[in-house]
Amino acid sequence: MDTGTGNLYLAFAEREARGNSAIYQELAERVAGDTELLGLLGELPVPKRQPNLLFGAVRHLGGPVAEGWPTFRDWAATRWAEVSATMLERRTQTNEAGRCATLLPLLASLPQPLALIEVGASAGLCLYPDRYRYRYRYVSEGESGAAVEEFGADGSPVTLECAVSGPVPMVDFLRERLPEVVWRAGIDLNPLDVRAEEDMRWLESLVWPEQTHRLERLRGAVQVARTEPPLLTRGDLNATVRELVAQAPAGATPVVFHSAVLAYLPPEAREEFAATMRELPGHWISNEAIAVLPTVAERLPAQAPARSGLFALALDEQPVAYTGPHGQSLDWFTGV
Ligand SMILES: C[S@@+](CC[C@H](N)C(=O)[O-])C[C@H]1O[C@@H](n2cnc3c(N)ncnc32)[C@H](O)[C@@H]1O
Repeated sequence: MDTGTGNLYLAFAEREARGNSAIYQELAERVAGDTELLGLLGELPVPKRQPNLLFGAVRHLGGPVAEGWPTFRDWAATRWAEVSATMLERRTQTNEAGRCATLLPLLASLPQPLALIEVGASAGLCLYPDRYRYRYRYVSEGESGAAVEEFGADGSPVTLECAVSGPVPMVDFLRERLPEVVWRAGIDLNPLDVRAEEDMRWLESLVWPEQTHRLERLRGAVQVARTEPPLLTRGDLNATVRELVAQAPAGATPVVFHSAVLAYLPPEAREEFAATMRELPGHWISNEAIAVLPTVAERLPAQAPARSGLFALALDEQPVAYTGPHGQSLDWFTGV
């Protein structure tokens, strides 16, 4: 029995799926106790054994995930050659346009116009903050809801919902004018092409089964990106970011940003990236799990957030807010 992989699936069931996907929670718990499937997973390289990759691969191939454990298990074991080939070929690259709701106030606070450079861009759906609509719902600790503010690009097929607390700056400004983006570029180890049906089917397979609102958002964002596909470069972010920033048009503020990316890098590669960012012109926005960037983590307010799984949003290493990992919340710090 491969206890390492089993524990990975149990941890996923408990920490990630519980409360978000009853389907994936059950499947992950059952995989963790299935000697045959654990053996098959154990033949893959360690980074390829992830639950999200297994479940995404089965769905991508048209397999069942919502019909209960025995159906899933039989299908996955019988079709293992195709499932494992898909897991080896693909990566977990969930692209969440919803994160634009948390990036927007910072982007609006910078000198306009902007040249956006996203590292770890996936298909680049976070490069369109000026093309979406936003619905900010103001909440305070202990209250269920308050005022709602809606603004953004007229006629956009995407409206991003975000629960906001604290003194978020620039909201008056945002009502009148969104950030002006004159250049959209990105880097990814494996850029996905919004014009390629197979790539977009893969992104859809990565959205958890019960999260139909995220699927609708993804489809809308793909529609937006297809009208003006971003410039995406294949490569490692450390190897390519300088070159891409150098290509930004004169007269625009270069803004390098990333969300849910640096956790995939070993600590020394994160430090190399941070050192590069300190040297490059323009600004650096990071939106990553709290412990991922030590210089941001050490400047966070002492009080830990009540909710788990939050990201820290920072401008040039100065933290400004905690954010929901999919952009569903923005808790701005006082005094920044
Ligand atoms: C979880 S996705 C997040 C995508 C996007 N930033 C978002 O917020 O929706 C992480 C992406 O980072 C990319 N990535 C991971 N390590 C990378 C590296 N060293 N250089 C470039 N891209 C990388 C992956 O291929 C993947 O597309």
